[in-house]
Amino acid sequence: KKVIFSGAQPTGTLTLGNYLGAIQNWKSFEDDFQCIYSIVDLHSLTIRTNPEEFKESCLSMLAQYLACGINPDKNIVFFQSHVPQHSELAWILNCNTYMGELNRMTQFKDKSANHKDNINAGLFAYPALQAADILLYKTNLVPVGQDQKQHLELARDIATRFNNNYGETFVVPEIYTPKLGAKIMSLQNPNVKMSKSDENPNAYISILDDEKNLIKKMKRAVTDNEGVIRYSDEQPGIKNLITIYSKLTGLQIEEIENKYEGKGYGHLKTDLAEIVVESLNPIQTTYNKYMNAPDYLQEVYTKGADKAKELAEDTMKKVKNNIGLV
Ligand code: TYM
Repeated sequence: KKVIFSGAQPTGTLTLGNYLGAIQNWKSFEDDFQCIYSIVDLHSLTIRTNPEEFKESCLSMLAQYLACGINPDKNIVFFQSHVPQHSELAWILNCNTYMGELNRMTQFKDKSANHKDNINAGLFAYPALQAADILLYKTNLVPVGQDQKQHLELARDIATRFNNNYGETFVVPEIYTPKLGAKIMSLQNPNVKMSKSDENPNAYISILDDEKNLIKKMKRAVTDNEGVIRYSDEQPGIKNLITIYSKLTGLQIEEIENKYEGKGYGHLKTDLAEIVVESLNPIQTTYNKYMNAPDYLQEVYTKGADKAKELAEDTMKKVKNNIGLV
């Protein structure tokens, strides 16, 4: 079977952007691929954490993965920090990645602009650790949202260069982004992506938001003065709402446009709020169930790490041999 790898950071909770852009697709691959999904806790250390809260967020993220339908009996689910080969390979890749390449990363530019008091070496080298995550598992395909494309292009460049310098070592991974929903936009400014680090909580939907908040946030979503419900670049707010609508219901864009022909934005927002509530409700119920089963969560992440380690060690042996470590 071909291999899929992807991951999400355990900072905060998953947003509707994370869900529709990435996680929702992950489970669709489980029958045809060997899927490996990590909670990339080491990446989250690039931002200062509160240890108590961080531990809780990490376990919560595992429960969110499972609640979103990632089946741990079919997929390998684990914490990145439990498999030391990630850090080990990251160092070797750091030594094969140029400062100039890392300097071009827009995520580094954005994050260092927003966290001026803590521009650490880990934040700069972040994409090399991400490349290690992927390359360790001989990954063929990486399903992500639009914002991760630049990091994945770099991972491909690093793998190709390493293979050229040291002989065939890594599989060069392909990138998968969904046709629709690869970039869910902020509800308050439809020209920027929906992000959990947005300072305005009305800008994003957490998959764990309660019903009252979900309805409030959907109703406050910024639209425009056109008064027409149409999927068009000139109406980024409405375009975003139609995208979310389509992803959650499976209706085609044109079906939605037809359904709301001659109707007002209020109508669309009320319906969409209800759809969002109904879609997230079962996820939240399942989430609560897992959060009340800490022993089960432990069993899942222990088993996941054991399987991941075995695969990762296989690659590490080859890397060390090819690069000339005794
Ligand atoms: P993270 O935790 O920021 O996001 C997890 C996934 O959600 C996608 N995503 C979005 N998709 C659509 N619309 C949005 N508004 C939106 N916001 C986020 C992201 O593209 C991602 O697929 N560096 C990665 C985590 C990572 C990783 C990896 C991913 C570490 N190693 C290896 C793939 C392979 C990150 O911070 O994702």
